[in-house]
Amino acid sequence: MKLGFIGAGEMGGAIIRGLLKTGLKKENIFASVRTPEKANLLADTLGIAVYTDNVRVITEADCLFLAVKPAQMPQVLAQIAGCNVCPKPLVSMALGWSVDKIAKVLPHWPIIRIMPNTPLALGEGVTLFHFATEVPQPMRIEVMKLFQNMGKTYEIPLAVFDVATAVSGSGPAFVYHFIDGLARAGQAQGLDSTTARELAIQTVIGAAKMAQHEEATPAQLAQKVATPGGCTAAGMEVLVTSDLKEVLREAVAATTRRAQEVANS
Ligand SMILES: NC(=O)c1ccc[n+]([C@@H]2O[C@H](COP(=O)([O-])OP(=O)(O)OC[C@H]3O[C@@H](n4cnc5c(N)ncnc54)[C@H](OP(=O)(O)O)[C@@H]3O)[C@@H](O)[C@H]2O)c1
Repeated sequence: MKLGFIGAGEMGGAIIRGLLKTGLKKENIFASVRTPEKANLLADTLGIAVYTDNVRVITEADCLFLAVKPAQMPQVLAQIAGCNVCPKPLVSMALGWSVDKIAKVLPHWPIIRIMPNTPLALGEGVTLFHFATEVPQPMRIEVMKLFQNMGKTYEIPLAVFDVATAVSGSGPAFVYHFIDGLARAGQAQGLDSTTARELAIQTVIGAAKMAQHEEATPAQLAQKVATPGGCTAAGMEVLVTSDLKEVLREAVAATTRRAQEVANS
């Protein structure tokens, strides 16, 4: 199956790198972007063909991926509609673009909406899926399989797609912010910046793996580390008093609201 990407920036590029890591042949992936300089740079770094002509990707791909910003979607969808090619699997990752909204421009196409996150470039991603009803089961399985090789996949109902997007699509940014904060806090108390950053990163990796493999809930795991009267408990007291969890609730709510605004714009 030839996979064609329209757009290969942060997210499209991460997916392409992830797919190449899973062993897909370079000849079977190609992309188009807007600017010739970026096309050349991407072709050099990814080792795939990168064009500045979307029509070539639209006509040659067996499965089409849309990895442009939401604002570019009307233009790109109109271009696809104008190409008069037979409908083929169309995988869109544009924030705010439901399968129904895309189907208004491309009525007979099997449309798959995804929300990936960038760690899939390293095989540790999360990809959310929502399928148009007419997408046949074998096609669903085939496309999901591509992403299962780069992390975990979840089929998510439309009603909670934006919330799930906030948690896993935007979540990496929140986690990077936490890592940065933890590292800077260590630095403020005297650690050098490299050591502080390495300790913070490895601690997040280790704690995430524990949370994944242990039966205890994250809250129970936190309790196990924070012995009453101990030093961790003193730090946890600060996090609880300043209500870090409430801050996260507000961050996820704001992200979800923004996703809905983009969808309604
Ligand atoms: N970044 C994330 O972590 C993330 C996570 C989940 C979902 N997404 C979704 O992924 C999509 C892409 O986001 P991004 O962060 O990857 O954006 P980005 O880094 O700005 O990349 C956009 C890409 O689209 C290309 N492009 C723009 N207009 C085009 C056109 N008319 N025809 C062909 N190519 C065009 C750009 O090429 P030039 O550079 O040459 O302009 C660039 O390669 C968005 O819809 C976003 O909602 C992103």
